[in-house]
Amino acid sequence: MNISVIGTGYVGLITGVGLALNNHKVICVDNNKEKVEMINSKIPPIFEKGLEEALNKTVPSNLSASDNLEKAVLDSDVSFICVGTPCDEKGKCDLTAIKVVSEELGKALAKKNSFHVVVVKSTVIPSTTEKIVLPLLEKNSGKKLGEFGLCMNPETLREGFALQDFLNPDRIILGLRGEETKKVMEEVYGKFSSQKFFCDFSEAEMIKYASNSLLAAKISFINEIGKICKKLDIDTYKVSEGIGLDKRISPFFLNAGLGFGGSCFPKDVTALIAEGKSLGVNTFLLDAVIQVNETQPKTFVDFVKKETELKNKKIAVLGLAFKEGTDDIRESRSIPVIKILLEEKAEVLAVDPKAEENMNKEFPEINYFDSSQKAVDLADVVLILTDWKEFSLLDFKDKLVFDGRNIFNKNKPLNYKGFLW
Ligand code: UDX
Repeated sequence: MNISVIGTGYVGLITGVGLALNNHKVICVDNNKEKVEMINSKIPPIFEKGLEEALNKTVPSNLSASDNLEKAVLDSDVSFICVGTPCDEKGKCDLTAIKVVSEELGKALAKKNSFHVVVVKSTVIPSTTEKIVLPLLEKNSGKKLGEFGLCMNPETLREGFALQDFLNPDRIILGLRGEETKKVMEEVYGKFSSQKFFCDFSEAEMIKYASNSLLAAKISFINEIGKICKKLDIDTYKVSEGIGLDKRISPFFLNAGLGFGGSCFPKDVTALIAEGKSLGVNTFLLDAVIQVNETQPKTFVDFVKKETELKNKKIAVLGLAFKEGTDDIRESRSIPVIKILLEEKAEVLAVDPKAEENMNKEFPEINYFDSSQKAVDLADVVLILTDWKEFSLLDFKDKLVFDGRNIFNKNKPLNYKGFLW
């Protein structure tokens, strides 16, 4: 099929490349000309495993990029909306980009004679597809739902594993109405063996938010259990392993530590809280998920301060990305930790295999090291904040090492301190 993807961030680019790998003909649309150029030159604008190879395989035969939305819509049968929906200052889901693109898509649909399906893949607060996207499409196209198709198909990609997750999803959620749209979406995902789950627009939107909120809740839950365990000298990871054997709980997302960062969990839980409050619902549990998460960085630094002074000490901070496998520092737990270290007048020696350039924009005043070993050798104290496996292979000699991510399986450093284990 001919498919257009509007927005080439993590979700849009991975969706475009993933569909192109499944023999669809894809046009990725972005108003950022530099990104368009990079994609057409097979240069990945983001770091994701397998993306460069996939671009080499699909560009230009199955994948191209353009800044002309109207032409991309006229030349395709399906258009995915993959633009950003960040949190605004009040934590509410900012739908500005969604509204702009919905209007432009509507205007393009007005010029189409064939059936065209619009797919909302951006994470949008429940009821957005029905109450905001659909009216804008109808108003600007002069057509009614049924003369075009509409589907809400939430993304389920983990950064660092995004292409793998797109190509092998646990399930494909399709919130849609009408047989014609269903047939088109079954063709889009025809080569995927994963279960296709059909529901309505708002149910699909809520499945996304509820799924991320529950995963975030599991993390805050085990971190709260972890703080009690640490006081009782209990290894939280043993507890996680034991409870995870109950298949209703599962062993996943029970890794205690510095907590969750990234562009999704903090934003999605905060947006759902804001939506709940705007509807007059008290979100006690979701509030606690955020509160526990926000206390983790300070709890970790307090744990360090129990063992050592920070003022004028050289502190090696190993790990800046919000998790291993990515260069993304959005909501990284390293940011509040570094802030506290600087407030305490420590000297920060920062290291990360991928995220140094991004963190430098946040903290230009700290020292960055290409070599993790060199930073460790120069440091008085070492903090491990991101679970990059390579850190566990370093020679820490007799340095005090505080691990916020439990990266050592066995042979821990001589002077090792586990945060919650
Ligand atoms: C998440 C969801 O996993 C994905 O399905 C959704 O589509 C987008 O949001 P992502 O944010 O990329 O993906 O990363 P994820 O691997 O989920 O980790 C999120 C954060 O939680 C990271 O900071 C990670 O370090 C932390 N985490 C994860 C824990 O602290 N403990 C865990 O057990 C798992």
